[in-house]
This record gives sequence, C-alpha cells and structure tokens, in this order.
Amino acid sequence: MQADHLRSKYLEFFKNRGHSIIPSSALVPENDPTTLFTGSGMQPMIEYLLGAKHPKGTRIADSQKCFRSQDIEEVGDNRHTTFFEMLGNWSLGDYFKKEQLTWFFEFLTKEVGLDPNKLFVTVFRGNDSLGIGKDAESVAIWKELFAGVGITATDVDFSERDGMQGGRIFYFDEKKNWWSRAGVPANMPEGEPGGPDSEVFYDFGVEKKLHENSVFKDEPCHVNCDCGRFLEIGNSVFMQYQKQADGSFKELAQKNVDFGGGFERILAVKQDTDDVFLTPIFEPIITFLETVSGKQYSDEKVKQSFRVIADHMRAATMLAADGVYPSSKEQGYFARRLVRRAIRYAKMIGIEQPFVAELSKVVANLYSHAYPDVAQNIETVSQGLAIEEKKFANTLQKGLREVEKVEKLTGEVAFKLYETYGFPFELSQEIAKEKGYDLSQEEFDSAKQAHADQSRTASAGKFKGGLQDSSEQTTKYHTATHLLHAALRKILGSHVQQKGSNITAERLRFDFSHPTALTDTEKNAVEAQINEWIQADLPVTVQTMEKKSALESGAIAFFVEKYPDQVTVYTIGNDPETNWISKEFCGGPHVKHTGEIGTIKIEKEKAAAAGIRRVYLV
Ligand code: SER
Repeated sequence: MQADHLRSKYLEFFKNRGHSIIPSSALVPENDPTTLFTGSGMQPMIEYLLGAKHPKGTRIADSQKCFRSQDIEEVGDNRHTTFFEMLGNWSLGDYFKKEQLTWFFEFLTKEVGLDPNKLFVTVFRGNDSLGIGKDAESVAIWKELFAGVGITATDVDFSERDGMQGGRIFYFDEKKNWWSRAGVPANMPEGEPGGPDSEVFYDFGVEKKLHENSVFKDEPCHVNCDCGRFLEIGNSVFMQYQKQADGSFKELAQKNVDFGGGFERILAVKQDTDDVFLTPIFEPIITFLETVSGKQYSDEKVKQSFRVIADHMRAATMLAADGVYPSSKEQGYFARRLVRRAIRYAKMIGIEQPFVAELSKVVANLYSHAYPDVAQNIETVSQGLAIEEKKFANTLQKGLREVEKVEKLTGEVAFKLYETYGFPFELSQEIAKEKGYDLSQEEFDSAKQAHADQSRTASAGKFKGGLQDSSEQTTKYHTATHLLHAALRKILGSHVQQKGSNITAERLRFDFSHPTALTDTEKNAVEAQINEWIQADLPVTVQTMEKKSALESGAIAFFVEKYPDQVTVYTIGNDPETNWISKEFCGGPHVKHTGEIGTIKIEKEKAAAAGIRRVYLV
C-alpha cells in the first residue's frame, strides 16, 4: 500500500543515515504526568533531549502515533485530524542544522518526488528580549539547497504584513517559529527545553478563501495565513535552549534536533491534493461509508460528516488498541466523545444501522503492517466499541423520550439528561434550535457548576482511597487490591487500569478498564495467581521517593497529576528493586507479608460502565 510505502521510505532513509528505528510509543504516555495523550513525536523523547543517554544512540527515527484531543472540534475541514502519525527524527547532541535541513529537503524532493518550486520555508526572526538572534544559519543552508536545484531563494521579512514579496524563505516570530511542549517562550515553565524551528510548506498554487479563525485573516496571503493555499508538512526544531528560573534561556549541554513531519499531509501533497481524506490512508474508510450510507464523499452536503466519522472512528480504534475504551473518566471520556460524535454524524448522512464494529475492522486493516497489534486485538477492540454504540443508542432513546416530556430544554434539563443518560449537550442544543430557541453553553455550564458544588459538600465526609476504616480486615483487603490489580494486568494485559475501589470489612470491590466480561478461565487464572502470591508470603515494603524516580522505577500511579513531588510507594515482592510483582503509589496501610491475607476468591464480576468491569473479592 502507498501509505506503508511512504512510512517505510522515511524510516529507511534515516536508517541509511545512521539512525536507529524505534517503535511508536503508546497513545497514552507511560511516564508523563503532564498530559493525557501522546500529542507529538518528541513527548516520549523529552528526557533524552535533556541529556539522558538513549539506549539506541544519538540518532533516532520513528513514526509516532499521536492524538490531539483539543482538535476534536476542528475536524471537518480538509486537513485536521485528531489521530495522526508524526514522522520523527532526532539528533541527541549529534548532527544539527546543516544535516537536518539538507536531509529533509532531499527526502521531500528525491524520495517523495515533490517539485522544489512548490516548497516554501520559514525561519525564526529572532527576539532581543530572549537574547536569541535571527536564524541566519538556517537561511544560508536553505539558500544553498534551493540553489542546488536551480532556484534562487530570497529571504523576506514581515510577509504577514506585506505579503509574499516574491520570497521563498520567510521570517516569523516565536508564535510561529519556536517549539516547546508549552508553546511560546513566555509560557514555558522552568526547566522546559525548546528552541527555534524551521517549517516547510507545500504550495497548492491557488489562494483560497481566508480562514475565518486565522490570526492573519485580515492580512495578505502568506505561508502561515491558513487560507488553504499552503500546507505545513514538516518542522525541524533546533532544541537547544532550556528555560531558567529567572525567565532567561540557557544553551543545553547538547544541541538537539527534533523533527516532526505530518505523515498524512506528506501523503496528501505527494498526490497534490489538499484533502487528507482523499489519501490512501483514508480511502477504504471513505469507501466503507459510501457503501453503508449510499452517499458520495464528493457531495459537498455530506463531506463534513464523512470527515468527522472517518477521523473519529480511526482515532477511537487506535485508542482502544492502546487500552483506551469509551468511559466517563480521563482518557476514556475522549474515546466516548469520538464514538458518540461519529454516530451522530453518521445519522446525519442516513446511517441508522450499527456500523462501528465493522468500521473499526477497516481501520485495523489499514494498519496491519505498521501497527500489527491493532489487527491482532481487533475482536476485543471492535466489541468494546460496539458496546459503546449500543449504550449510546439507549441513551438517545431514553433522552429523546425525556425531551418530549419537558416544556423547554433549559440548561438544567440538558445537564440532567447529560448526567443521567450521557445525553450529549450538543444534541440538546440542536433539538433546542429545531424547536426555535437557543440553548447556550453558559446555561449548561452553570447548571453543571451548581451540581458540582452540591456533590462536593456531600463527599466531604468520605474517607480517602476507598478505605472506610483501617481495621485489620480492611488492611488485608487493601493489600489484596494491589495483588488483584497486578494479577489482572498480568493475565488480561497492561491496558487494565484501576478505575476505582471500595473496601468494607466484608469485601473488596474493584473497577478496572477492560472491554469484555471475564471468562471463567480468566477469572480462575486471576484467582489462582493471587493465591499463589499470597502463599509465597511475599514481603510488602514501603519507600518514600521523588515522584519522577518512582515512575521511572515502574511504579503505577493512575492519577499521577494528583500526587505531590514526594510520594510513598508500596512494593510487593522479594526485592523492591529487582524482584517484585506489584509497585504502586499508595498511602497505605498494608499488611507486612502477603501470607497474612489468607485465601481469596472472586465472588462476582460484572460491567460497571462501558469498557469498565467490576469485581467483588472476598
Ligand atoms: N516537536 C515538533 C512538533 O511537534 C517537531 O517534532 O511539531
């Protein structure tokens, strides 16, 4: 397939230039408490950019799966997607600007075969207050590269004010040509690495309608104006600075390159289309939707719906393959929004029958080469998504029935529908509109706030950590919780995450993410594993350490952002460093040895919510 071919070509190109190819990290970052999802290729690389030694050397390349939840609402135009792949290559204090810009230019023009006349680039204008000057070095390199293909590349400044002026290299300030996880220099926290960057744009040749949301919407057309004439396809970040406590920037000990290229976008410009949904990575999805809806993607009336469904179901499938199933909490909340939004848009183009499971199989098939685990897990994934589809159908039915009963759909009613049935606010808003009145986000938000205030008061009296008292029995159950968690992850897979627990003197209740009911074999295996660990009478140890080193040591913490910098970690096993079966952030209390617990039994297993199972253990 063309898409596989492009991805391999990129990796091969960098492999031939001394890079180690590493697999994509999961969409849920393992050790990064700052974010729910992996949203760029460099996120998993941060510690190496700061100087830690990467086991694979100083030149690394990959194709990283990314998900940007903040783009959900943007989806519907020709280029925004929530899930995408970022082609990445890194120099960890190895090569710098010259090699990076030369290689990327060579890749685009020779390997992908793009016409260099259609390529335009940007560089950092410099900013005295940061003590960082104009990126003259990159300008000189770009001039030479273009000259090599017979193009005189002129550098011009202030195209955002004066237009293109016949230029090919454009200077922009830190809003456009600076990259860090936190954005512009002013927003970077102390210690955060960042640096100036150089972007490459592809020119479709025709000035389009100005983008109404662009900050440059009243300016003349230029590479960054967002009118649709130009598409950014890659960004070379010269990650060489670190923000200091006093706000200044200091050079890092090593000068790094962090390159990120939009895989789907390069695929699009390769065939000279500005619509990523017309590329091979979307084609089978679009064809599927045309078949089930009986409509054509080329029809402008349905195009937006096609794009939303295609993007959302692709993202939901890839998230589920990484263990994120629709639910009401954290990452799962976004998975739920994706599936439900896709279903709503499907209805708009006449798809009334269930389609989610089948479409997820189309998606898995697209990635059978690049990410084979998606296809390997597709039965579980498609079932998990279909469960959400069914739930949502119920929700709609019940919600619509309630709507019939009320006189007016107020913010309060909309919130109640949302709270009780998961009825989407957008849908309430649409219904209100059909009935001839407005329902504002503010009305809904204030009803939500009022509710939150109430429940905060109600929960103030409860105990932390699901523990109702610390009698001997509950302490045993508490340690059993850790064993249960570890056993579930060992037997069902590391997608299992604790979603809640509650202990009384009589039993332990435990909720966790998993798409399907446990089979008897699985239940027995979990029970047997826990009892085996209990019989081994493993010591339980507690350590106080820094959050960062705790995470590095493999400790699990599901609400990382809620923990302070110093944390206590409970480890179960013969050696807390090298030989353990469970390691979790926890406030205790716990038994000293697992043998104190006595034999356990799983009494009941059932669904707690979509994608969440609940077990009772005695
Ligand atoms: N970190 C940069 C980006 O995400 C380049 O990889 O655009």
